[in-house]
Amino acid sequence: MKKTVLITGANRGLGEAFVKVLIKDEDCTIISLSRRLSVEQMEYASGNFHFIEADLAKAHLIEKLEVLKDLIGEEPVYIVNNASIIEPVVGIADLDEAAMDKTIAVNVKSTMVIVTFFLGNFNKNNLSFVNISSGAANRAISNWSLYCSSKAFIQMFFKVAESENKQHQFFNIDPGVMDTGMQESLRASDFPDVENFKDLKKDGQLKTPIDVARDILKTIGIHQ
Ligand SMILES: NC(=O)c1ccc[n+]([C@@H]2O[C@H](COP(=O)([O-])OP(=O)(O)OC[C@H]3O[C@@H](n4cnc5c(N)ncnc54)[C@H](OP(=O)(O)O)[C@@H]3O)[C@@H](O)[C@H]2O)c1
Repeated sequence: MKKTVLITGANRGLGEAFVKVLIKDEDCTIISLSRRLSVEQMEYASGNFHFIEADLAKAHLIEKLEVLKDLIGEEPVYIVNNASIIEPVVGIADLDEAAMDKTIAVNVKSTMVIVTFFLGNFNKNNLSFVNISSGAANRAISNWSLYCSSKAFIQMFFKVAESENKQHQFFNIDPGVMDTGMQESLRASDFPDVENFKDLKKDGQLKTPIDVARDILKTIGIHQ
């Protein structure tokens, strides 16, 4: 069945893994809403893969989304809210306003803008909104205040969106702890629980992004 999958932050980590799995599906059009392409993605022919260059920290995201009206027809659309930042990992007393603005822009506002755009412009399509959430949305972790709070915010935003839009699907999915750049930056950060995160890597407990991408695509009904 023809479908379109839009993924934010699709150039590395879990986002890139989604693309690697989906690119083999000829019925799938992939749209990457990211700041850049991965080296592999530069080689993809443009037929099934489209790149919209966008920095989710910047204003005027809505203007970047306008091109979607030319790329999407009547097919089902999956919108994967994947891009996220965790830095700065510092105590609340050390937060500065620029960091607050950036986390709110990337982790919160851009997601609301994208969800609003799809509900406003593609309400006749079958829409599946997939929020890549985190255990941190429901658990207070010292020095992660911006990340935990932003993840909790979007989880609730999705729940309200679901209550208003019963004809569409909304998923909040915790992918578990994965071997990506985000984990690498956490291991180099200063927070009380950091040794546990170092042990997860040392003990081979981190999931591969490809395995997680496959599991999530099954959960949302794209692949068997
Ligand atoms: N890794 C874990 O253990 C873990 C656990 C629970 C939940 N998660 C969640 O899983 C999702 C994927 O995480 P990950 O581990 O793959 O993270 P990652 O390796 O840090 O990758 C983050 C992605 O977000 C993009 N991004 C960041 N800032 C952006 C901006 N301003 N504009 C556009 N794109 C931006 C990055 O692009 P650039 O290359 O341009 O920076 C990158 O593609 C996130 O929502 C994360 O919260 C991860």
